[in-house]
Amino acid sequence: MANRIELQPSGHQFESKAGENILESALEHGVAFPYGCKNGFCGACKAKVSGDYEYQDEYKPQPLTEEELDEGVVICCKAEAKSDLTIEVEVVKGADEIKVHTMPTKVVKMEKLADDVVRLYLKTPDNESMQFLAGQYIEVLMEDGKRRAFSIANAPHNNDAIELHIRLVEGGYFTPHVFNEMTEKEILRIEGPLGGFYLREDSRNDIVMVAGGTGFAPIKGIIEHAIELGMKQTIHLYWGVRGEKDIYLKELAEQWAAEHENINFVPVLSDAAEGWEGRTGYVHEAVFEDFYDLSGRDLYVAGPPVMVNACKEACTQRKLPEKRFYSDSFEIAGKSEGKK
Ligand SMILES: Cc1cc2nc3c(=O)[nH]c(=O)nc-3n(C[C@H](O)[C@H](O)[C@H](O)COP(=O)(O)OP(=O)(O)OC[C@H]3O[C@@H](n4cnc5c(N)ncnc54)[C@H](O)[C@@H]3O)c2cc1C
Ligand code: FES
Repeated sequence: MANRIELQPSGHQFESKAGENILESALEHGVAFPYGCKNGFCGACKAKVSGDYEYQDEYKPQPLTEEELDEGVVICCKAEAKSDLTIEVEVVKGADEIKVHTMPTKVVKMEKLADDVVRLYLKTPDNESMQFLAGQYIEVLMEDGKRRAFSIANAPHNNDAIELHIRLVEGGYFTPHVFNEMTEKEILRIEGPLGGFYLREDSRNDIVMVAGGTGFAPIKGIIEHAIELGMKQTIHLYWGVRGEKDIYLKELAEQWAAEHENINFVPVLSDAAEGWEGRTGYVHEAVFEDFYDLSGRDLYVAGPPVMVNACKEACTQRKLPEKRFYSDSFEIAGKSEGKK
């Protein structure tokens, strides 16, 4: 049997099934309930609960003070609803509300998505977890102090592992290691979540998303999150790559468009082979052709700096308000570090 949970003051409502803790149920429904360890240690998920609940696994809420216990504060990552509940908690609305962590992660799965793109799944330690907003990124920390940024490609409701899409930079410091030497079980130290590129859930504007190459990674996280939230506005996804083989998760994007009538998918090839019947040219040009006026829309752009800068022209050429332009520019870190 499921119990109904309502959060105040946000008004979010969702169901919690038997066997699930309150935090799990919230995250599964795309609700940004605050958390840290997911394991009863840190206290980040504490909230005042009205209704019946029980702690799982004989858990004792050590992070709570006597005063909090008297006030009905509960550790939600360990508590299971036993009746309908009303919970007082401030859901996470912006990146500045999430604590940045450094932690070791284990590569649990590697999958080649294209000749020059690998998908990695990273597992956090059992007693640590990383809350993030759809679209944010992590940095891989190397022993010599160098760091490399990669976007999180999964949505927060599906965070058993952190998913990354890594493109090979020939002659680079880190990515050739991923392609040539990395094996499953390798430990990667990461810091995150980072960045202000995430879905603005409060906006009701139609959305235009532009991905360049592996810029698809954060866009994937954002679209999966928007689907989970049941957002109804139209989402136009443009994915710009060189050739057809570089649309490395084409079936997934086509499936979103087939299953959700508010999602359109437009792949754009800059170096199309003969026989390609879709759009060609640079991806920002395709967007500018299709939208003369972007004044009532939100534009999300992720990928190479040159593409991001070209898309920013939408603010002057296509009436897009600057505050509605959200971008993640994939700068190459090695450029600012000098030669290695
Ligand atoms: C916020 C953010 C998110 C990112 N997310 C992702 C992601 O999800 N997936 C992803 O694949 N990448 C992503 N990147 C880019 C990624 O961080 C870089 O590709 C990374 O630095 C490559 O690491 P490397 O050590 O292999 O190469 P580096 O050692 O950093 O680069 C080696 C050298 O190669 C040169 N170089 C090689 N190829 C190019 C090129 N195409 N353009 C310009 N210079 C080049 C550079 O001059 C550089 O000095 C992101 C970057 C940022 C800032
Ligand atoms: S105690 Fe850390 S998330 Fe619940």
